[in-house]
Amino acid sequence: MDVYKERNHFFVTKTHSVIKKYSLSPVTAVAHSNIALIKYWGKRSVEYNLPAVGSISLTLDALHTKTTLQFSDTLKEDQLILNDQDATASALKRVSDFLDITAGSSDRPKAKVISENNFPTGAGLASSASGFAALALAAGKGMGQSLSDEALSRLARMGSGSAARSIYGGFSEMQLGTKDDGSEDFAVPLYDENYWDVRLLVAVTSDEKKELGSTEGMVRTTKTAPYYEHWVSSHPNDLREMRQAIAEKDFEKTGELAEHSCFKMHGLAMAAKPPILYWNAATTETIHRVWILRKSGVPAYVTIDAGPQMKILCLPESVDAVKDTLSEINGVRSVIEAKPGPGAYIMETVNETII
Ligand code: DP6
Repeated sequence: MDVYKERNHFFVTKTHSVIKKYSLSPVTAVAHSNIALIKYWGKRSVEYNLPAVGSISLTLDALHTKTTLQFSDTLKEDQLILNDQDATASALKRVSDFLDITAGSSDRPKAKVISENNFPTGAGLASSASGFAALALAAGKGMGQSLSDEALSRLARMGSGSAARSIYGGFSEMQLGTKDDGSEDFAVPLYDENYWDVRLLVAVTSDEKKELGSTEGMVRTTKTAPYYEHWVSSHPNDLREMRQAIAEKDFEKTGELAEHSCFKMHGLAMAAKPPILYWNAATTETIHRVWILRKSGVPAYVTIDAGPQMKILCLPESVDAVKDTLSEINGVRSVIEAKPGPGAYIMETVNETII
């Protein structure tokens, strides 16, 4: 790799006559977390991170990751600061590998990355979704690439499958491709954040990092769960029904389908060997309490990801009733109210150097 500096602002590399221009100025990107209403669980390729099933999600305004990245011509290794602390070696490796993928080679200038979540990390609140969506945007811009939303979504997917959907605001759908290299596996927008004013209340039941990450959980499920083939073959129908329910703004149908997909996914994971159970006592208690509330006439539906946190989908007029119910549950530590949120964006501020 030949390297030369251009007017102190860029780091230009030339490998096999391919010229790349890395910005030496910091770039900041923000991406919001998303919650799947029809769940992704299982991979058809671990190497390219290709989901085995499509998914439909809602991006949330209240949960976000802000990531600043700066390439340097002096750093010897990548650095990652996550929520004000030096990241673990495994988190740093995941980010370095992702930057290599974005650059198309490990022969690139090193970067410092500072990332902050405004919510508990790694506890089933989709921090990898907002994290890799923000990183894809910041890295692409830092590398001087002008990427379409489709290309950004494909890139984010390589970091984490759910991140592909956080490129967009509102409702989006992760599509499955047919090619082995994943070039067709990216998310597409369905409706933006102004389409339908639904609410998602996140009941935090633990601040602990989950014991089993979603990647490991999916690999184990794919290999050992006896109903796995049926999960995959019945999925297109769940997606079709959800697309229609959202198109018709049929809240009851949307909630029923979301709950069904949630329990189908967790039932499948529980049937893996050894079993995967992400819930704690407060998770189970909350499920029952939301169902009792629903019987009393309040349309509220639960969904749960790879962690013990509860997410309750409801309409604006039901928020107070759901919050009252949650406040009575031992083990619900805090409640975050979210509306449909925006897609990922670059913060157009003049950033101070972070190196
Ligand atoms: C239960 O996107 O975290 O939240 O692709 O291995 O990084 P990797 O998995 P990840 O899995 C998300 C699983 C889920 C359901 C969903 O968001 O669709």
